[in-house]
Amino acid sequence: MANFVGIAVARNAKAEINIREEGVGAVPRQMVMYASDQVHSCSQKAAELLGLGRKALRLVPTNEYHQIDLEKLQAAIAQDRAEGHYPFCIIGNAGTVNIGGFDDLNALADLAQAENMWFHVDGAFGAFVAITEAYAHLAAGMNRADSIAFDLHKWMYMPIEIGCTLVRDQDAHYEAFTLTPIYLTHGTRGASAGERWFSDYGLQLSRGFRALKAWMSIKHHGFKKYQRLIQQNIEQVMYLSRLVEATPQLELTAPTISNIVCFRYVIDGWSTERLNTLNQNIMYELHERGIAVPSYTTLNGVYALRVANVNHRSRLEDFDALVTAVVNIGQELSA
Ligand SMILES: Cc1ncc(COP(=O)(O)O)c(C=O)c1O
Repeated sequence: MANFVGIAVARNAKAEINIREEGVGAVPRQMVMYASDQVHSCSQKAAELLGLGRKALRLVPTNEYHQIDLEKLQAAIAQDRAEGHYPFCIIGNAGTVNIGGFDDLNALADLAQAENMWFHVDGAFGAFVAITEAYAHLAAGMNRADSIAFDLHKWMYMPIEIGCTLVRDQDAHYEAFTLTPIYLTHGTRGASAGERWFSDYGLQLSRGFRALKAWMSIKHHGFKKYQRLIQQNIEQVMYLSRLVEATPQLELTAPTISNIVCFRYVIDGWSTERLNTLNQNIMYELHERGIAVPSYTTLNGVYALRVANVNHRSRLEDFDALVTAVVNIGQELSA
């Protein structure tokens, strides 16, 4: 929802017509946006729900660190312009869902500026590296976005759900959602007072007071604690990554960049398909035996256990235990 809100504002602010009035069917040129092939599926859902269609989200290839290929992105924009389409938005990733990779956000900001396009950043979990001292550089340029989406229920350890969208241009945000029927006229006094209501900034009219838990948590724990814990989570993941590298039965299946490690159990001579099934079963066993709950992904056809560390209670011993369990279960299942 946080990404949907940012992209909805982008669409409305950049449209060549009054899109709320006329609808997407009336645009003079097809509106197209760009993201890497690693962008989360919620951006595709947004393209569908905003009437742009999934094809309007151009997925640009990435390098081994899952960063968008800037030359291919520029070429795609140029080609779309040449074909009479209307490029209106670039979505950058601050923390890709698969491996926690970061696009070159400064380069994307430059390009969006040069092309007069909206720059949205999906920072669902990765945006929070910006508050650390050691890893803030990963998200350099994120501060130049027109809109940023991030989830405080991910890497700020808050109870689900508390997605958040920041939009630089308050009026553009307001214009995308405000609607004041007679029964919601904003008053000058009493409970209906207020020139702009929260319902003027999103889809919901009735809504929970989500911001309370954000305010209370930060007030109670203090900003410095979040800085320390987020950095600690990354360092723990670097520890796990080294542990995997030092364990002959295991291998990393992607570079470790921030708080995600993707790895698998390997046996010499086994095919990719056989290893994929084995690793999937290792994951099921880890879950069902109550040892650990890693998630999973498949990168270039290779199935991997995926550890995304956003837990303030994580300890290094937890990762030792995980590696031991993966090796033991791998041996047991392959015997
Ligand atoms: C990069 C990224 N974007 C968007 C989302 C969607 O967030 P939510 O699950 O809060 O809707 C996720 C969730 O995993 C994510 O990792």
